[in-house]
Amino acid sequence: MAESEKSNSALSALSTESRSFPPPEQFAAQAKATADWYERADADREGFWAEQADRLDWSTKWDRVLDWDDAPFAKWFTGGELNVAYNCADRHVDAGNGDRVAIHWEGEPGDSRDITYADLKREVSKTANALEDLGVGKGDRVAIQLPMIPEAIFSMLACARLGALHSVVFGGFSPGALKARIEDAEAKVLITSDGQYRRGKPAPMKENTDQAVEGTTIEKVLVVKRTGTEVPWTDGRDLWWGDVVDAASEEHTPQAFEAEHPLFILYTSGTTGKPKGILHTSGGYLTQAAYTHDAVFDHTPGEDVYWCTADIGWITGHTYIVYGPLANGATQIVYEGTPNTPHEGRHWEIVQKYGVSVYYTAPTLIRTFMKWGEDIPAKYDLSSLRVLGTVGEPINPEAWMWFRQKIGAENCPIVDTWWQTETGASMIAPLPGVTHTKPGSAMAPLPGISAIVVDDDGNEVGNGEGGYLVVDKPWPSMLRGIWKDPERFKDTYWSRFADQGYYFAGDGAKYDEDGAIWLLGRVDDVMNVSGHRISTTEVESALVSHPTVAEAAVVGAADETTGQGIVAFVILRGDAAGDESKGEEALKALRDHVSKEIGPIAKPRQIMVVEELPKTRSGKIMRRLLRDVAENREVGDVSTLADSSVMDMITTGMQDSKED
Ligand code: WTA
Repeated sequence: MAESEKSNSALSALSTESRSFPPPEQFAAQAKATADWYERADADREGFWAEQADRLDWSTKWDRVLDWDDAPFAKWFTGGELNVAYNCADRHVDAGNGDRVAIHWEGEPGDSRDITYADLKREVSKTANALEDLGVGKGDRVAIQLPMIPEAIFSMLACARLGALHSVVFGGFSPGALKARIEDAEAKVLITSDGQYRRGKPAPMKENTDQAVEGTTIEKVLVVKRTGTEVPWTDGRDLWWGDVVDAASEEHTPQAFEAEHPLFILYTSGTTGKPKGILHTSGGYLTQAAYTHDAVFDHTPGEDVYWCTADIGWITGHTYIVYGPLANGATQIVYEGTPNTPHEGRHWEIVQKYGVSVYYTAPTLIRTFMKWGEDIPAKYDLSSLRVLGTVGEPINPEAWMWFRQKIGAENCPIVDTWWQTETGASMIAPLPGVTHTKPGSAMAPLPGISAIVVDDDGNEVGNGEGGYLVVDKPWPSMLRGIWKDPERFKDTYWSRFADQGYYFAGDGAKYDEDGAIWLLGRVDDVMNVSGHRISTTEVESALVSHPTVAEAAVVGAADETTGQGIVAFVILRGDAAGDESKGEEALKALRDHVSKEIGPIAKPRQIMVVEELPKTRSGKIMRRLLRDVAENREVGDVSTLADSSVMDMITTGMQDSKED
């Protein structure tokens, strides 16, 4: 048997999940996106996307839906012109919905603010006028590092209004990371704040951003006052938002830009150290953002109260807080703080307060809620919820079931949405009124999207088999390149299956017996044990299905005989964290459990009980660091960790366990 065949069949043989949940009957009966959408899109893909583009207001209609002549550089809706900010604010006011709340904003310390669409239009116009006065125009780059405050959204839309590109950098990134991004994009203006609230306390922001700005192309720094923290000040360069924006005119006439005009750059980490500036453009991006926000969440403007818990610094915040929902005239929650400030029920308190009906979050947070205990959400009225969503990593069936039962009262479809910074918007996800969902599966490509699982040679694998996830047809919100680096763009995404012209997502996936798609984590998270390819996700999922385990991270560590050996790091549940559950017996029981769930090939070589796992600020487990620990290496760069002390705790624990 060829090596790849062997590993593919090993991957396919791993655990199967047989539960399946149809949409509640009443939900299905009223759902906007129906089963025939798949057929319509298959029969006429471009016609389907043209229909979706009609959701937007174009000042000039396009004359061609897709131009793929210069593949992999796509052009969508060529000849068309629109203003993205007009579509996200003004047009709702023009339609008579100026009084509708666009944003219920909740500050971490308990302050709040309601922003209507009329307010949004006014604030975005003022911000655009202020930026224009600072010399920002079409094609310029503006860097934004802000907490989750309304000004972040005003700033992004003001850039869009002017045809300037924003580059939002997550608030927790270090000055060095911000500087590298400013330099790569050659940004002219930085928008930041004096400070930011972190777990109930003001932390400095401008002090850090000042270090990043030093010696770069930044000419002006616009500073929002949020915490009242004292800040260093450079006269002539630094300006208070309150002085400049509040004084600006409320009138700003949006200019239309062509569909392919760049909208933003968002940096994402690659396999090499240098972050990639992922470039998105206007018409196609907004079309798919609006379409998926509507179809995947069954969203009705004026009725639903929508909440995406992501940060504006990530693509999920761009597409599902700013562009998708606002293009659709949604009423949404924007929450500034952490989920346990001031208490672990904060999210559920907000759901109850505003009657949130659509709640979209990350699996890592769901597992954290599980760890905190089901009695916390049980104290709140969550009956307004009707759709639940997840994004960012594969969700293990146990967390999915918990979400369904403890948050959704077994009455809300769960949409597990697979997509990437690069894809711009959701690609593989259930339609909540149509799909019979399985816990842990993103199910199928959305109508209009085509994605398949292929083997090493690019041939589609059969049901029950695993391989690589590829997108085999261009889609409107696809990245248009890597900023200033077309070669890296071609190399990273289009060279692996160049003959077929497929976009290589970098994720492993498999079809189950019914053809549903299961994501298996990044290909670089796939372990190879004795020639068997085993996904870290599946082993983690097996561990978490044991009653004593709250969270697990699994890595493949170099092993003399088997190539790689499986090393697991587990956090035990609150009620199981006593000493006996860490003992040899208990760990053996866990190893046997994995063996039982997946098969003896997946049995971890070693299991470590830890208090915390190293995670990036967007909640992704940094397996690279755990691999260092598992292979007894000095732990590598921890600068992107949300809490860098976690690694000290883990390495100390590892040494203790060796001395035992
Ligand atoms: C992973 C986030 C499984 C995947 C929108 C992808 C997922 C990477 C899912 C992109 C999901 C995202 N199931 N895996 N529903 N959603 N991923 O760029 O590995 O931050 O390649 O975009 O997250 O992460 P990014």
